[in-house]
Amino acid sequence: MPIEWSGLSPELILSLDRERPEPLRSQLESGLREAIRSGRLRAGERLPSSRELARQLGVSRGLVQECFDQLQAEGYLNARAGSATRVTAIGTRSAPAPASPPPERPRLAVDFLSGVPDLASFPRNDWVWAQREACRAMPTAALGYGDPRGSAIFREVLAGYLRRVRAAAAEPDRILVCTGFAQGLNLTLRVLAARGVRRVAFEDPGYGDGETMATTARAGLEAVPVPVDHGGVVVEALAASGAGAVVLTPAHQWPTGVVLAPERRRALVAWAAERDAVIIEDDYDAEFRYDREPVGAVQGLAPDHVVALGTVSKSLAPGVRLGWALCPPSLVEEVGLEKNLNDRGSPVLDQLAVATLIESGRYDRHLRRMRATYAARRGALLAALAEHAPAVQLSGLAAGFHAVAHLPGSADEQAVVAAARERSVGLYGMSPNRSTRSTTPPQLVLGFGNLGERAIHKGVATVGDLLDG
Ligand SMILES: Cc1ncc(COP(=O)(O)O)c(C=O)c1O
Repeated sequence: MPIEWSGLSPELILSLDRERPEPLRSQLESGLREAIRSGRLRAGERLPSSRELARQLGVSRGLVQECFDQLQAEGYLNARAGSATRVTAIGTRSAPAPASPPPERPRLAVDFLSGVPDLASFPRNDWVWAQREACRAMPTAALGYGDPRGSAIFREVLAGYLRRVRAAAAEPDRILVCTGFAQGLNLTLRVLAARGVRRVAFEDPGYGDGETMATTARAGLEAVPVPVDHGGVVVEALAASGAGAVVLTPAHQWPTGVVLAPERRRALVAWAAERDAVIIEDDYDAEFRYDREPVGAVQGLAPDHVVALGTVSKSLAPGVRLGWALCPPSLVEEVGLEKNLNDRGSPVLDQLAVATLIESGRYDRHLRRMRATYAARRGALLAALAEHAPAVQLSGLAAGFHAVAHLPGSADEQAVVAAARERSVGLYGMSPNRSTRSTTPPQLVLGFGNLGERAIHKGVATVGDLLDG
């Protein structure tokens, strides 16, 4: 039976096998040598005393000492009288190279990647102020394990905000605070799967085959695509799909940018009531509506059938990782249970900081500022295309910070994307968002949230000839 020894350093694991013909001393010697050569024992690392090592290995101290002497003679170890035996630099390999990092996107001169707000505009000063205020005012008890559904203060403030800005039927005890749309969806789908839902409908074009689809599959659910046209999701197709739930983006469809038409909203709600189905509303960028007030959330029309998922990923920054699920009364407890099992609740200080931002009016002020910023960028995109690629039409511009560029029918979507990359401009085709991956009609999804007006002009000027066919 091999004897396992874990030294003071967890990397040092030696095994001696008394059944092998090789003497124990040479096993120990070669084991140590190999540990040093392979880098499991690094230069400068301290070995246990010969007495301690002998005790742990069940061999005589003399045998260990002989090994140490030998390896010292070979230059692997260094032992000075009165101090510990240490590994020398000789024979040690430099620390193993760290695992190769995930492939990075090549740095592009201009990147029309969508989904990213203007990161440089994150209200750092307001955030620091709000964190300080929140931390100062917070009762000590708030630092314990709290309600896994989230801070009561934040849920109260958020409910008021959602009623005011999103026309939602929001009550604090229906809100579950989570880390964003991604977690809110994950928790909701798990609860629905446990309740026996088997199929979930998604808008097509929609999320493509990224994390959202992986989350659905992991919850054991079948994803069914339902077409989107100029009025949003086609509700007859949804009804025919046999789905027990649907995930959709009514205020500003991802990625086409269409707004769910009023009659479709009514039909959607009727479908949910009739089938006792669940509508999962991804309310990701609704605050940024340009031509009029934001379209209210569908949740306000059918609070007993809608889970409205909100996030600060667009309004503040994705790195904050804060969001919420506004649930029907019949689901909130189970979603809260799921959240508790997941991570016991989201960080309380961040919740209190956002509550402080909202209550102080600084959140609204930031949104007003950003609406003006994005409106200017949207204008820059329109102007640049009119100048450099007049054959291209834009749609989906009523809200948010991405648009769909309709290329001339003869254009090859993938070839345009590839040629633009050669010129260091990041363009993104619509085809990955379509369930069929079809490249017709040729379209691009252009994000302009994290690009200044000058960069937008430069990017469009660089690739205008490609876009125009
Ligand atoms: C359509 C859509 N919904 C929601 C989100 C936000 O997800 P999260 O809140 O997990 O950051 C994104 C982010 O890009 C998105 O594109």
